[in-house]
Amino acid sequence: MKVDFISLADFTRADVESMLDDADRLKSDLKAGKSQRPLVGRTLAMIFEKPSLRTRVTFETGIKQLGGASVYLAPEDIRLGARETVGDIARNLSRWVDLVVARTFSHRSLLELAQHATIPVINGLTDLLHPAQVLADLQTMRERRGSLEGATVAFIGDGNNVVNSWLNAAALFQLNFRLACPQGYEPDAKILARAQSLAPGRIEIVTDPSAAAQGADVLYTDVWTSMGQEAESQARRAAFAGYQINARLVDVASKDVLVMHCLPAHRGEEITADVLDGPRSVVLDQAENRLHAQKAVMVWLSARSQPGA
Ligand code: CP
Ligand code: NVA
Repeated sequence: MKVDFISLADFTRADVESMLDDADRLKSDLKAGKSQRPLVGRTLAMIFEKPSLRTRVTFETGIKQLGGASVYLAPEDIRLGARETVGDIARNLSRWVDLVVARTFSHRSLLELAQHATIPVINGLTDLLHPAQVLADLQTMRERRGSLEGATVAFIGDGNNVVNSWLNAAALFQLNFRLACPQGYEPDAKILARAQSLAPGRIEIVTDPSAAAQGADVLYTDVWTSMGQEAESQARRAAFAGYQINARLVDVASKDVLVMHCLPAHRGEEITADVLDGPRSVVLDQAENRLHAQKAVMVWLSARSQPGA
C-alpha cells in the first residue's frame, strides 16, 4: 500500500491539519538547529516537464534535510510518455527510488504515474491542480492569523490550477472563497461543483474584483498566463486587464489583509510592485513554507506507505 499526494480532495481535514502541524514542527526544529532526518537512505525522483524555481529547490533541499537524496529528471532526460510509456517509467522508478514528485502538463499523466508506481507520487503542479502550493499557503495563513477559522479568501484572476486547489481547500476547511475572473476563465466545473456542495454558500464566482475583495482577509493572485498557455498570452492580457491587485484593491479588503501570490509574479500585470513588496505581502513566507510543508508531505506519505509493496 502506498499513499499519493495528488489532490487535497483525497484527504480529510484531520489529515491536512496533521500535515500542517508536522510542517510547523519541522519549521521550528529547523530554525532551532534541531536536525530531523526520518528519511535517511530514501531517494526522491523529480520529474519536471515545466520550469520551476520554488518547487524544485524546496523538494531537493527538503529531502536532503530529511536525510535523503534526490534525482532531478528534466523534460529532455526522460521525455515522459514519448521515449517510453508513463507506466513503464513509473514501474522502473519504483524499483530504485522511494518517492516521486512530478510536475506535468496534463493531470492525466500524473494520475497514470501514480497508478503504475508502487511508491508515493506527489503532485508538483499539473494543468489542473497545485496542492503543494496551497498546503504551504494554508500554513502561512495559520501562522499569520492564528487559525483558518472563518477566513475569507478573495482570488483575483484566472480560475487556474492554483484556484482549483484553493476550492478543494475551501471545501475542507469551510473557508469563504471568492474568485473574481472574466467570463470564460472560470475554474474546473467539477471541482467547483464539488466545493460548492461541500461548503454551501461559501464559494462565489464573480466578475467584479472590488466585489470579491470587499472585507477579504486574503487577497490572492497568480499569473494570467500559466505555463503551457503562452500562445494565449496576448488575449489573456486583454481579458485580465482590470484584474490587478493594486493599492486601490487592497484598500477595499480588511485592514489586516494578507496579500498572497504563489510566484513567479509579473510585476505590473496581475499585481503592482508596491503591493507585492508592501507591508501586507506574505509572498516570501509562502515561498519559504513550500519547504516545510513539502517536507511534512514526504514524511507523512512515507510513514503511511509500505516500502516495496
Ligand atoms: N509557486 C511555484 O510553484 O513556483 P515554481 O513554478 O517556481 O516552482
Ligand atoms: N498557474 C501557474 C502557477 C505557477 C506556480 C502555472 O501553472 O504556471
